[in-house]
Amino acid sequence: MSLILGIESSCDETAAALVTGDRAILAHRLAGQEEAHRPYGGVVPEIAARAHVEMLMPLVESALDDAGATLSDVDAIAATAGPGLIGGVMVGLVTAKALAMAAGKPLIAVNHLEGHALSPRLADPALAYPYLLLLVSGGHCQLLLVEGVGAYRRLATTIDDAAGEAFDKTAKLLDLGFPGGPAVEKAAMRGDPRAVKLPRPLVGTTEPHFSFAGLKSAVLRARDAGIHRPEDIAASFQQAVVDCLIDRTRRAIDRADGAPALVVAGGVAANRAVRGALEVLAAEHGLPFAAPPLWLCTDNAAMIAWAGAERFAAGHVDPLDVPARARWPLDPDAEKARGAGVKA
Ligand code: KG4
Ligand code: ZN
Repeated sequence: MSLILGIESSCDETAAALVTGDRAILAHRLAGQEEAHRPYGGVVPEIAARAHVEMLMPLVESALDDAGATLSDVDAIAATAGPGLIGGVMVGLVTAKALAMAAGKPLIAVNHLEGHALSPRLADPALAYPYLLLLVSGGHCQLLLVEGVGAYRRLATTIDDAAGEAFDKTAKLLDLGFPGGPAVEKAAMRGDPRAVKLPRPLVGTTEPHFSFAGLKSAVLRARDAGIHRPEDIAASFQQAVVDCLIDRTRRAIDRADGAPALVVAGGVAANRAVRGALEVLAAEHGLPFAAPPLWLCTDNAAMIAWAGAERFAAGHVDPLDVPARARWPLDPDAEKARGAGVKA
């Protein structure tokens, strides 16, 4: 059975993991950088890149120790090669290249979004291709038909902010702390989701695209009105996001004409309200539902190692001069969403 070392460094988590081709997670190590970024209320790319340089090799060594393995036991080295903050991506990819060269092992350049997209298959051996995926992270909000490793059809995307970005901005506006998503979820538990009237951008439109920028502006106005408790704004905001995600996903299910399973992945998939509502939606349509365990939703290296294992099994390896990419769409042929900004 293949053994893959995975490396992740595209945002503010440095991570290394060892995963086998039959889904055994032999080790996964992760170092967050929350403390370093907290004073700025968001991820500072230069600080992130420096932290990756300091943390990555010790994490790789610990992961190998945990698994009782050495580099020579590994069949391939998989690293995130984009999309993400380019300094961090380069740190991880260059490290993987150096290890691959030193140990004489193949390199696998993994698209970070593919890591999220395939992570539910690491957690659930019964999840077969194809499936309808809602990919909700800090930088992306997309509906994809996952047809196989490397075969992704983008059905919809956001025309402005990603869902996770909206959570992060709302946390900042309400002064709830950093990182934003979990802070909003925690505050929302103490609030009333019907307390503040907020918009549901694009709900009811034909194409299943997303938009969250207007919601963020509405949160700002609600805050400045000075009459609502932050918990109530947080709960109302979270409900609005859930309503948008559900309406858009329902539209995609209707259009996908018999999608065999509904799957959610990415950092926002760690949100219990989001998971719960999607599970209900799947049940309404008689679809199996899959969501990775919470730790596998947010950035980690096990999902990169697993995507590497799937690629390795399919015979995909990369040359040592493969580039790091700040932007890297999963479906390069997808049409631009009407009204969309520059995001892929
Ligand atoms: O997938 P991820 O870890 O990194 C990216 O690839 O972007 O996603 C991070 C995003 C952040 O915007 C974070 O606020 C959000 O996922 N997030 C959450 C929760 N946990 C993480 N959003 C809502 N509720 C959560 N519990
Ligand atoms: Zn991610």
